[in-house]
Amino acid sequence: MTSAALSRILILDFGSQYTQVIARRVRESQVYSEIVRCNITASEIEELAPKGIILSGGPASVYEKGAPQIDLQIFSLGIPVLGICYGMQLMGRHLGGEVENSARREYGAGLLQIEGDSQLFEGLGEQIDIWNSHGDRLTALPEGFHAIAHTENSAFAAIADDERQLYALQFHPEVSHTPRGKEIIQNFLFRICHCAMDWTMGSFIEDACARIRRQVGRENVVLGLSGGVDSSVAAALLHKAIGDQLTCIFVNNGLLRENESEIVQRVFGENFHIRLKYVDATERFLTKLAGVTDPETKRKIIGAEFIGVFEDAVMELAGTKTAGESNFKFLAQGTLYPDVIESVAIGGNPASLIKSHHNVGGLPEKMHFQLVEPLRQLFKDEVRLAGQQLGLPNEIVHRQPFPGPGLAVRILGEVTNKRLQILREADTIVGSEMKASGWYYRVWQSFAVLLPVRSVGVMGDQRTYENTIALRIVESQDGMTADWVRMPYEILARISSRIVNEVKGVNRVCYDISTKPPSTIEWE
Ligand code: XMP
Repeated sequence: MTSAALSRILILDFGSQYTQVIARRVRESQVYSEIVRCNITASEIEELAPKGIILSGGPASVYEKGAPQIDLQIFSLGIPVLGICYGMQLMGRHLGGEVENSARREYGAGLLQIEGDSQLFEGLGEQIDIWNSHGDRLTALPEGFHAIAHTENSAFAAIADDERQLYALQFHPEVSHTPRGKEIIQNFLFRICHCAMDWTMGSFIEDACARIRRQVGRENVVLGLSGGVDSSVAAALLHKAIGDQLTCIFVNNGLLRENESEIVQRVFGENFHIRLKYVDATERFLTKLAGVTDPETKRKIIGAEFIGVFEDAVMELAGTKTAGESNFKFLAQGTLYPDVIESVAIGGNPASLIKSHHNVGGLPEKMHFQLVEPLRQLFKDEVRLAGQQLGLPNEIVHRQPFPGPGLAVRILGEVTNKRLQILREADTIVGSEMKASGWYYRVWQSFAVLLPVRSVGVMGDQRTYENTIALRIVESQDGMTADWVRMPYEILARISSRIVNEVKGVNRVCYDISTKPPSTIEWE
């Protein structure tokens, strides 16, 4: 839990695709926000003592059977509430107004005409551009409310009851298409809820260190370091908190990119002086993968092997016969906030759903570790910020995501030493050209894939019959959806030309122009 003194905003989630965006907008304003189930009770809220409550949008219609409801006592707690879209309709309906299914759906850009001088719109002038996405709309005001803005289609685009500090917006202030939406959110945070700007990475790190020390006491902690952003920041944070009580295990599975294990050993071993156990398990993994071509089988083998190698390393470090008996009581993981947000199934039974995370290859319960998850409160961009403040270099903090099964899922067909070498060389060229052109940090991922396809080419006067590399360069917010990047032709040309000229065994390069969905980012 966060220290009690922090100003806190609770966001009740009614299933909007933008709920996490609301939470991030609040945090970007240096106020701590937490997403909670929409069926949280008023007394549970009182215990959390938030400075304000935001009701998210959602896909349901308030009159629909099974539409998510709200504990009406929440409106009588004396805590300011801001309802957005579905949140507004809920307030409207339950506080005595009328909501109707609008004949004209308002979707997309609109113009908001501001009326009067509500604190919520202070400093915004008379009209602003907004983004709508709703079917239902309020047609009669609830008691005590007045309109504070309208649009062409709606007389009640924003409403307020200043006495009870209840506010509601039909549009979405959290999305970037409402360019001044952040100011509206900040007016709510600071003018209405009187929040302090106390959510900073400096205060988070200090707080997290104290919590880690309290949790682990004098016990030892082990962490599977992959070199990715999350496990790296977790390692740096734990090291700051408990120094040599932390031991990191870095497993080289033989499926890493060029120089990857050297970078991790240099940054963590030499620069940070973290206790680091390096395990070269290349042979073990490649032997198990010999002859395997099915993608799921590859993934399963790699996952199982990782657990075995990790367990062996713990036993070796501890000098025990099982990992459970070791002197490592805690296992640290880089679990992030989006992995642990509790949500309610909208439109069905409000069964509590907690997304499972798959860090560290799902180490089994029989290892009897207690978990330390110091990044559980953070979004990815906050993790990067924390990493920077902890002194991690850019090459780690701004790393593109890399899958746990490594290059094995980028080699279609059998994984062999020779094919790994071809892919590594091609991938190094992609990485260096992306960095040299400044594109590496602008995209979500950029990498090479080795296809199980050979084709005819000509080099000098010789006919060739060689391998094909596919280039995958995508942009994405969270990896759930993705689009291929419209890269400048010159950069693609340079990457292609370098690969066919420099990588022995490749005579053709293709550019993958598929989106996710229906494709995925990785090829396996
Ligand atoms: P897909 O291929 O499912 O990938 O579109 C979405 C994102 O997840 C990454 N990815 C993984 N990350 N372990 C990981 O830690 C995995 O097994 C794994 N598989 C895919 C992928 O690189 C992309 O960013």
